[in-house]
Amino acid sequence: MDSLSIKGGTPLHGDVTISGAKNAVLPIMAATLLTAETCVIRRVPNLSDVKFMAQILTSLGAEVTFEGDTLQVRAAKLKPVGDYDLIRKMRGSVCIMGPLLGRLHKATVSLPGGCIIGARPIGLHLKGFAALGAEVVVEAGYVRATAKRLVGTEMFLGGRAGSTVLGTANVMMAAVLAEGVTIIESAACEPEVVDVANFLIAMGAKITGVGSPTITITGVKELHGAEHEVIPDRIEAATYALAAAATDGEVRILGARPDHLHAVLDKMRDAGVKIERNGTTLTVSRKGKLKPVDITTLPYSGFPTDAQAQMMVLMALTPGISIITERIFESRFMHVSELARLGADIEIEGPSAIVKGGKPLSGAPVMASDLRASAALVIAGLAAQGTTQVNRVYHLDRGYENIDGKLRQLGARIERVEET
Ligand code: EPU
Repeated sequence: MDSLSIKGGTPLHGDVTISGAKNAVLPIMAATLLTAETCVIRRVPNLSDVKFMAQILTSLGAEVTFEGDTLQVRAAKLKPVGDYDLIRKMRGSVCIMGPLLGRLHKATVSLPGGCIIGARPIGLHLKGFAALGAEVVVEAGYVRATAKRLVGTEMFLGGRAGSTVLGTANVMMAAVLAEGVTIIESAACEPEVVDVANFLIAMGAKITGVGSPTITITGVKELHGAEHEVIPDRIEAATYALAAAATDGEVRILGARPDHLHAVLDKMRDAGVKIERNGTTLTVSRKGKLKPVDITTLPYSGFPTDAQAQMMVLMALTPGISIITERIFESRFMHVSELARLGADIEIEGPSAIVKGGKPLSGAPVMASDLRASAALVIAGLAAQGTTQVNRVYHLDRGYENIDGKLRQLGARIERVEET
């Protein structure tokens, strides 16, 4: 398994361009299955999760081609049964279920496996499909949904932690081809859900209210091919912004959507980071001493859980106590014990991490446990004195396009060490 070797202590300087959003492109790729015509998706990030989703589409019968960051999919013929092992490996693949159900009225997919950041159930997805009239059964590791007709209805998709991002997208993708009107209450408001809806609208779907907790979908008979450009990845932008602040550098983040980043930028400003916004460019530097801030992760437009680990590193470098509370996933503090290897002083109390910041960090070998934990360890390694070896880089390759190349361009001393 490849690792990253980081010689820390060098402030990041320069420009970095943000790639397309992983969590938008995965359901958008699934949505291409809703039509037999060709779909063209632009600004597709080069990620292992994207390649993996392309394999899943191919296994279902679609023709998939990449040219640079443009993806073309034509699902003229389509099978309703996904490859068990392919789907099981990646959580995002569950969102092929809505399009298969919408177009073929049947879908069989393997249950996505448990995940290191929590249980990650899909009960709300299935509740939505059942409300549309599908019969849903779970047997032998598979979920099977079948429907004679899909009929629009009013449904509530709120759960323990509020709305569900992929669940909202999944049910919306089935409902666009249902008969009549579907109203999803407690829908996720994340920009990625809005992006999926915009692609569906370009395909001929009738959807209003996206970006609010009430989405209304008026079913149509069929969808057609469409072109779409994926939104920039707000979590990638947040990660580079936090890396700039953590290393006391100055970085221009190009091609971002600052309007998707209010919660993160606001907390960073409270913490003493200077952020200038000019159109789609953000310039991030420190303006003086850092101050501790308390953070609670929440559904959009609150502070994103996917930036919690990276923010924790900035707080670990900030003198004073900050409290970071995780409200979306129950065990998303796997990075804490690894950050401790670098010298961070963090205690976990239930859903909160108490960060006693300001201790100097020094490099160490660390083990990444999930995508965002890995990003946090990279930031910590960049800020630490000495060498940090981040193992299991495949987590990063799932969600950050060319992370080592982009960081090297910013002056980081980072090398990918291939296992021989
Ligand atoms: N939940 C339920 N029942 C369900 C579905 C979700 O109780 O049927 C709960 C979950 O257990 C969790 C909460 O609802 O407590 C939110 O989960 P959500 O369904 O919104 O998460 P997701 O759609 O599976 C997406 C992203 C995650 C991101 C979350 C939250 C993709 C591929 N994944 O997951 O991204 O953390 O939304 O914003 O879009 C990442 O990129 O590192 C990542 C984990």
